[in-house]
Amino acid sequence: MNNTTTDSTPVHGLWSSKLAFVLAATGSAVGLGNIWKFPYVAGENGGGAFVLIYLLCVFSIGLPLMMAEILMGRRGGLSPVRSFSKLAREAGGGQWWRLIGFMGILTGFIILSFYSVVGGWAMAYVKMALSNGFSDIDGEQAGALLGALLGDRDAVVFWHSLFMVITIVIVAAGVKAGLERAVKLFIPALFMLLIGLVIYGAIAGDFERAVSFLFTPDFSKITISNVLNAMGLAFFSLSLGMGAIMMYGAYLPKNTSIPFVSLTVVISDTLVALIAGLAIFPFVFAHGLDAGESVGLVFVTVPLAFSQVTGGAVLLVVFFVLLMFAAITSAISLLEPTVAWAVEKLNTRRIYVAVAIGLAIWGLGLLSALSFNSMNEASLCAGFFAEQAAAGKAVPEMCDGANDLFDFFDKLTSNVMLPLGGLMIALFVGMRMYWRHTREELAIKRVWLFRLWFYMVRYVIPFAIGLIFLNAIGLLPWILELFGLAGTA
Ligand code: TRP
Repeated sequence: MNNTTTDSTPVHGLWSSKLAFVLAATGSAVGLGNIWKFPYVAGENGGGAFVLIYLLCVFSIGLPLMMAEILMGRRGGLSPVRSFSKLAREAGGGQWWRLIGFMGILTGFIILSFYSVVGGWAMAYVKMALSNGFSDIDGEQAGALLGALLGDRDAVVFWHSLFMVITIVIVAAGVKAGLERAVKLFIPALFMLLIGLVIYGAIAGDFERAVSFLFTPDFSKITISNVLNAMGLAFFSLSLGMGAIMMYGAYLPKNTSIPFVSLTVVISDTLVALIAGLAIFPFVFAHGLDAGESVGLVFVTVPLAFSQVTGGAVLLVVFFVLLMFAAITSAISLLEPTVAWAVEKLNTRRIYVAVAIGLAIWGLGLLSALSFNSMNEASLCAGFFAEQAAAGKAVPEMCDGANDLFDFFDKLTSNVMLPLGGLMIALFVGMRMYWRHTREELAIKRVWLFRLWFYMVRYVIPFAIGLIFLNAIGLLPWILELFGLAGTA
């Protein structure tokens, strides 16, 4: 980005080139979502069929929506709230469209709060790997090491704080050259390391079982909640639905092709997720771990895999350093829209708002950090029901030690707020904006391709998201009945 502000350049500056945008957007998309979340969610949701639905969501909902977000951002040139406001005015719509921008701010706020906690785990693992804490471990020990970290309140809070500080410092300094350089170096390195792990997994792990688990769909196991999870994961992994990509689009020079950059980002992100899955599952099966291991999957499997090879300790350090960087380049994009909005609104220095907003997010993040130790249900219950327990009376069944707050924030954002944001963005771009404006921004030469995109955004995406929502909250049978259609679905 350079900061020369003329009439036609946005207030926050522009990326220096098309490549810079692609790198920054890829940096935003590729992160914990691909390497930490994709494998464990795919595992929890039964593998093959889930992966297929995920891919379907990525290409039929994610790709068109990414184009929509970028075109809105570039045409608006400001933070999502202001871009909505400006574009609504241009298209003769009401100012209430701005609310979608505000919802995006709230969504980014919540996601970053728990994202930072997991980013902190990656940092803690760098330290543990450096002190050679993983040499010659078995599956049980790998699990115990993660358990010990998560149970250590002070450690988890410390690493969460450090992660937030780094994110704040970078955003305060302005999302600039540093980001470009970092992404150019680290994403390919991470990619190579994952490929290396896949190859090693093919030799030393149960590769065949991993491939069949990930790519043989068994539709009999699919439920509506799997479908909702797949869609939520697609939004999360592609950074869509809250305006992060819209924000980066605001820095995109006019002459770059939006379809091209979107396709590049979507394909890179998807490849990294699939390769992460292929890197991890051979070891999951070879060591008899549980595919539904939940949030700990990568943190247990990867140390285990590396602990078996010579030079593994070094590779392990490299792996977690790269994971940490991938997480930071994503975290930046979660904070940036809010900070940009506050800078526009308050007309004050970037550093003040970055610190203030960052601190608030850090505070909210404590809830997630503590939900693995002091505040998990078992601990809370131990406090509240200590007397009963001491008297030998039964304590409520819910005291099972679940980390519900972390889970709640995760599900609320991925499965509700992001798809809802995406739905509204699709409606705005498909129904409200003039199609000659969207056409002008996308500059797709082939008419049928533009039409395809347009109808996807205008009808198919809102319909698909709406349908999945209705199904998930169990309203669909009720509505069908209302229209006398019961039994036909
Ligand atoms: N996509 C990132 C990941 O996969 C996380 C992320 C960054 C994100 N910015 C976002 C998710 C905006 C949703 C919305 O790790």
